[in-house]
Amino acid sequence: MHQRSTSLWDATAAAPRFDPLRGEIDVDVAVIGAGITGLTAALLLLERGQTVAVLEKEVIGGGETGNTTAHITAAVDARYHFLRRKYSVEEARAVADANRAAMAQIEELISRHSIECHFRKVPGYLYTERRKYVGELKNELAAAREAGLDVEWTDNVPLPFATRGAVVFRDQAQFHPREYLAGLAAQVVARGGKIYERTQVTGVHDGTPCIIESEGGTVRARGAIMATNVPISGFTVVLTKAAPYRTYAIAMAVDGEHPDGLFWDTADPYHYTRWQETDSGTFLIVGGEDHRVGENDDTEASFAKVEAYAREMFGARPVRYRWSGQVIEPHGGLALIGRSGNLCIATGYSGQGMTMGTLGAMICTDLLTDVENPWAETFRPNRVHAHMTVREFLTENMEFPKRLVADRLTPHDVEGKETADVRAGEAKILSVNGKKVAAYRDPSGALHAVSPVCTHMKCDVAWNVAERTWDCPCHGSRFTPDGDVLNGPAREALAPVELE
Ligand SMILES: Cc1cc2nc3c(=O)[nH]c(=O)nc-3n(C[C@H](O)[C@H](O)[C@H](O)COP(=O)(O)OP(=O)(O)OC[C@H]3O[C@@H](n4cnc5c(N)ncnc54)[C@H](O)[C@@H]3O)c2cc1C
Ligand code: FES
Repeated sequence: MHQRSTSLWDATAAAPRFDPLRGEIDVDVAVIGAGITGLTAALLLLERGQTVAVLEKEVIGGGETGNTTAHITAAVDARYHFLRRKYSVEEARAVADANRAAMAQIEELISRHSIECHFRKVPGYLYTERRKYVGELKNELAAAREAGLDVEWTDNVPLPFATRGAVVFRDQAQFHPREYLAGLAAQVVARGGKIYERTQVTGVHDGTPCIIESEGGTVRARGAIMATNVPISGFTVVLTKAAPYRTYAIAMAVDGEHPDGLFWDTADPYHYTRWQETDSGTFLIVGGEDHRVGENDDTEASFAKVEAYAREMFGARPVRYRWSGQVIEPHGGLALIGRSGNLCIATGYSGQGMTMGTLGAMICTDLLTDVENPWAETFRPNRVHAHMTVREFLTENMEFPKRLVADRLTPHDVEGKETADVRAGEAKILSVNGKKVAAYRDPSGALHAVSPVCTHMKCDVAWNVAERTWDCPCHGSRFTPDGDVLNGPAREALAPVELE
């Protein structure tokens, strides 16, 4: 009944499967989450002689790495001219360096371990169709060059429609993310690392040792990495420095010649485009229409807009796959990566999780093995905060307190009083006998009723029409219609509600 959309990656690559954790084990480092951050960290730690166990709630790539569009790039969403102004020229240079190092790390792992993942180096084009953005792009060109990147201007963007030019980032890359994860997983296992799927971590206790609990077993470890996209335990302050956004992607089969490169426009919301070869043919991938989680009543319409854009700009073709997911936007423009006690977290990657996830793995590996890391200071969560003005902090963080207050005290989002108000295929927040209920009626007519109060920090969830999930606007937790957790930081299901 509960349906997630299918990504191109799920449809075109098989993945190895692993059993859940049963019993107690001891390792040097426990890694929670088997996305790009977790599996990269696991492999780097093993190569440093550590023993490692990876605990994954679903399956490898079951989180956002399975929903990505996998532009591997040093072009940051926050823009280098913003970083230069907000932080300093040196910091912008450190960010560029860190991005280059992460991209080199991906390439090195692929080459050394012969990972077959359709990896290819391509240029990246940050382009505009509007004259008014040309000045801003020229600023970005200057700032990216000053930061040490190989960039240049072009008036000839290889797209099938007119543009006003682009900043070209040389030597960017693309791959098939599921194939990459499968390759990393194979190397983890070959080095004696353990991977446990369908193992949801329910408790994380920092200490000596750290205790990581799941339903079926416990891991005792010297250190742990929360590679869960958003921290699932503690790090509350970090949660106030990032916000979840939903973004949408589609894939259309193509044949014949196609442009080569990664493409981002300057529209708001913006679009991102690239082509990908797979074992099942070549696909045009177009994404965009980002919005803050919970702030769009009609997520189906967002898919429709991406499709309409793709058809208008690239020609009519059937959409073979469509999927959406969450990106975590850090308020200061920089990912949040750091250690507290024996725990390390890495989050707030924006739409740059391939490079930032790899960087997060590199920094956490160093921090947990007492090796100095040249970029740890730049991405330290507390340091990023120090650069926010009070106004920025208040503006960016209004959503959480605003939602909490609104959700508890006002009926602003109540859409009905009776279950009869919910038709088949619909979901509504009801007020039944004064109590709020999140109700979904599936196409067969069965009603699924749960409490709308998110089990993380008690914001109210909102319905996501396209994915048929309850999504939390505060820190991005997602739940099935029956309340089961799809994405953290929440670890507990929404409470079931009995209705006649
Ligand atoms: C549509 C879309 C397009 C994107 N495009 C790009 C792009 O072009 N380039 C780019 O660089 N980035 C892009 N991103 C962002 C990028 O995909 C993510 O930032 C990145 O994949 C995050 O990786 P991760 O390993 O940190 O998290 P994830 O891949 O989400 O991995 C976290 C894992 O932790 C598991 N987990 C969570 N809670 C628990 C628990 N309690 N116990 C056990 N396991 C748990 C989850 O199941 C998940 O598998 C895009 C994202 C989306 C949604
Ligand atoms: S995810 Fe934090 S309150 Fe819901």
